[in-house]
Amino acid sequence: MQTTGNTILVTGGGSGIGRALAERFHDRGNQVIIAGRRLDVLNRVAAGRDGMATLELDVADAGSVNAAVAELGQRFPAMNVLINNAGISRPEDLTAAAWDFDLAEATIATNVTGVLRLTGALLAMLRQKSNAVVITTTSGLAYVPLASHPTYSATKAFLHSWLQSLRHQLRDTGIEILEMSPPYVQTELGGPQQLTDPYAMPLDAYADEIMTLLETGDTPDSEVLVQRVMGYRMAEREGRYAETFAQGNP
Ligand SMILES: NC(=O)c1ccc[n+]([C@@H]2O[C@H](COP(=O)([O-])OP(=O)(O)OC[C@H]3O[C@@H](n4cnc5c(N)ncnc54)[C@H](OP(=O)(O)O)[C@@H]3O)[C@@H](O)[C@H]2O)c1
Repeated sequence: MQTTGNTILVTGGGSGIGRALAERFHDRGNQVIIAGRRLDVLNRVAAGRDGMATLELDVADAGSVNAAVAELGQRFPAMNVLINNAGISRPEDLTAAAWDFDLAEATIATNVTGVLRLTGALLAMLRQKSNAVVITTTSGLAYVPLASHPTYSATKAFLHSWLQSLRHQLRDTGIEILEMSPPYVQTELGGPQQLTDPYAMPLDAYADEIMTLLETGDTPDSEVLVQRVMGYRMAEREGRYAETFAQGNP
């Protein structure tokens, strides 16, 4: 993809990976719209950044998605890049007497239904552009699950499969479909302690490596993979699946 001259919507752009990418794209002169449920957080990120706009959006809510898509069409008709990055991740104990199904349902509503609904609603707009791109954040856990996060891991595996079909169906439209699978990164996804977890990749290093991959077009098979996630991504292909699963799930 071209990394300048775009109008980019970043869901979950108020924090973590979404914010880091939004800032880097904005630094390169792109018009960037950051979206999420917490407008106060979004406004703080956009403050002082000319050309960075905010949009209230709950991807798990059909009414909110419809309203946001209508607003985008009016305020930002030039939008040509969608970054599906919003997501939630929660541990689940499937052995508990009262397994909290609501948690599983919320994870699917955000990570799966939210991505499908928003992408579907924006495809008509993207098809009108000659340089349209959809980037979707999955996870290294799409390839080797973290057993303490069963639904979360499965939502990312779902997206990995769905994106291949989307890419194939859109092959004649010119819309580029990229999958970005982060390793464990220092954000607040799993709680505040993750921000400083020494086992997690520093956020700036992750975002910088992603921008280099995008700028150099180093996205084989339409996947945007930093070195640190390769162990998970290639585990099955390289015959290391059982060993990698055991290491991740002691
Ligand atoms: N950090 C990691 O280790 C890691 C690894 C692999 C994949 N990922 C993926 O990377 C993406 C970004 O996560 P992160 O690590 O940067 O964590 P994060 O800082 O918690 O970011 C998640 C973002 O998603 C937004 N969000 C959550 N639910 C939403 C909803 N219903 N509608 C709209 N926005 C919603 C949140 O904003 P609001 O709360 O304001 O809505 C937040 O800005 C996620 O898809 C995650 O699964 C992260």
